[in-house]
Amino acid sequence: MKEKFYITTPIYYPSRKFTLGNCYTTVICDAVSRFNKILDKDVFFMTGTDEHGQKIAQAAKDAGMTEMQYLDGMIADAKDLWALLKIEYDKFIRTTDDYHVKSAQKIFRDLYDKGYIYKSSYQGKYCVPCESFWTESQLIEGKCPDCNRDVIDQEEEAYFFKLSEFGDKLLDLYEKNPEFLKPQSRVNEMVTNFIKPGLSDLCVTRTSVKWGIPVDFDPKHTIYVWIDALSNYITGLGYGTEDDSNYKKYWPANVHIIGKEIVRFHAIIWPAILMALDIPLPKRIFGHGWMLFGGDKLSKSKTVASCECTDPRILIPRYSSDAVRYILLREIPFGSDGNYTTELFLNRINSDLANNYGNLVSRTFSMLKKYKGSIVPSFDESTEEEIDKELKEVVAKSIVDTKNYIESNFDVSKALSSVFDIFSKANKYIEVTEPYRLAKDETKSSRLNTVLRNLLESIRIGTIMLSAFLPDCSKKVLDSLHIQNYSYSDVETFYYLNEGDSVDELGILFPRLDVQKELETLAEIQKQV
Ligand code: MSP
Repeated sequence: MKEKFYITTPIYYPSRKFTLGNCYTTVICDAVSRFNKILDKDVFFMTGTDEHGQKIAQAAKDAGMTEMQYLDGMIADAKDLWALLKIEYDKFIRTTDDYHVKSAQKIFRDLYDKGYIYKSSYQGKYCVPCESFWTESQLIEGKCPDCNRDVIDQEEEAYFFKLSEFGDKLLDLYEKNPEFLKPQSRVNEMVTNFIKPGLSDLCVTRTSVKWGIPVDFDPKHTIYVWIDALSNYITGLGYGTEDDSNYKKYWPANVHIIGKEIVRFHAIIWPAILMALDIPLPKRIFGHGWMLFGGDKLSKSKTVASCECTDPRILIPRYSSDAVRYILLREIPFGSDGNYTTELFLNRINSDLANNYGNLVSRTFSMLKKYKGSIVPSFDESTEEEIDKELKEVVAKSIVDTKNYIESNFDVSKALSSVFDIFSKANKYIEVTEPYRLAKDETKSSRLNTVLRNLLESIRIGTIMLSAFLPDCSKKVLDSLHIQNYSYSDVETFYYLNEGDSVDELGILFPRLDVQKELETLAEIQKQV
């Protein structure tokens, strides 16, 4: 039986169009999911949308639509974006889906029946026009952070979850299970900032928010976002419904990958809810850092210069989904924050995709055509030199390292960099072995065969690993090599291709860009949008 692997993104708020920041988490999860498929695991990858709450109701109102009209449009747009980015999810959950609504209600009822939820009253700062409660710390200079108007003290009846009972259990969880929350810095943050000072019970319903899932035994209350949202990770598998086979098969999740600002909800509230329900906890929570645009998390912030283009709907069609996936996966050290600029993106396309990988493939394929009629040559290990051993060592190291980076820490950035070690080394191998010179000397024919074969096999191995990260260009290269189905065990054999097989021609994978000109064109395009 195949090993199971269940991975999730956060479910995103569709209160505005998804940004490059939302693409960041989704592409990471997609790459980890694809990589695990190559490792021959039975993978389930879920993403979706978090569709309740005041913000969504307001956005729909502003657009002059009903909530569902508004949401359906936003979700169609989100799914188009994921298709453009080649995101291969197994399930897209919407919290307005019927099965989710029913199952979230059941979860709420079970928590109530077990005595973990009780009725009391909620006091807070209330903005009347926005119909929103705020905590003291959310106010900006004492005023509503959304509309800048005065707020009043208000009280409303509400249900509370006994989060205060879980402090010690959570400390115990982090201590006994150091893999539960990564990176380690996030554990320190949870313990010092939230658990040690003492957890308060959590308000989990609102009577003032109409756009939400009603509590089935007290319908003037709606379930306030976090119980609704977090439970998606199990309701999406059918938990609490007639068909819970996916829940039985895939839960507990191997990992929830999320941004650092929602670690608190995932590492404190979610395990507490699950403990209360006697449900096993996810194996891992990984809180990654932010992609920063002009120092800010939001790509639309005022600090982003006008020449910057952060719109994935412009970037993907113009530069390919692979190029956008590459910058997202590679540029930001996994777990930390990192800056995105359009110039950095364009330079990466040139240096890594065009000059390194693209050039390696095109040089090798054209030499193979010129000298060997595009036929996979034989190899003769007796003609091998030191540089061949070095190349094979780099390949062997990358095979181990890439898998390790993904399996131990989901570190897509290091994994991708390790795959590129093969391509850099193979380019150097061409410089050192000079196949164009060998081709001029008949007595070196066997050596030339070996050199070209070593290059082809290095490209094959690197490209199979690359296919988890950049599926489109890898498919083109693997198609040329007539490789359709593959798994990680195929990269562990260096000589794998069949001697005498033909290799199909391949166009340019990544054209080199004139960075300055591109920046100007992008600025023009954005003016028109
Ligand atoms: N709906 C909640 C999540 C509920 S999960 C049970 C939410 N939604 S969100 O639309 O605000 O999405 C936040 C997520 O988008 C972040 O946690 C992060 O994964 C991703 N990102 C959005 N902007 C980002 C960056 N600039 N950089 C990295 N990730 C970012 O919170």
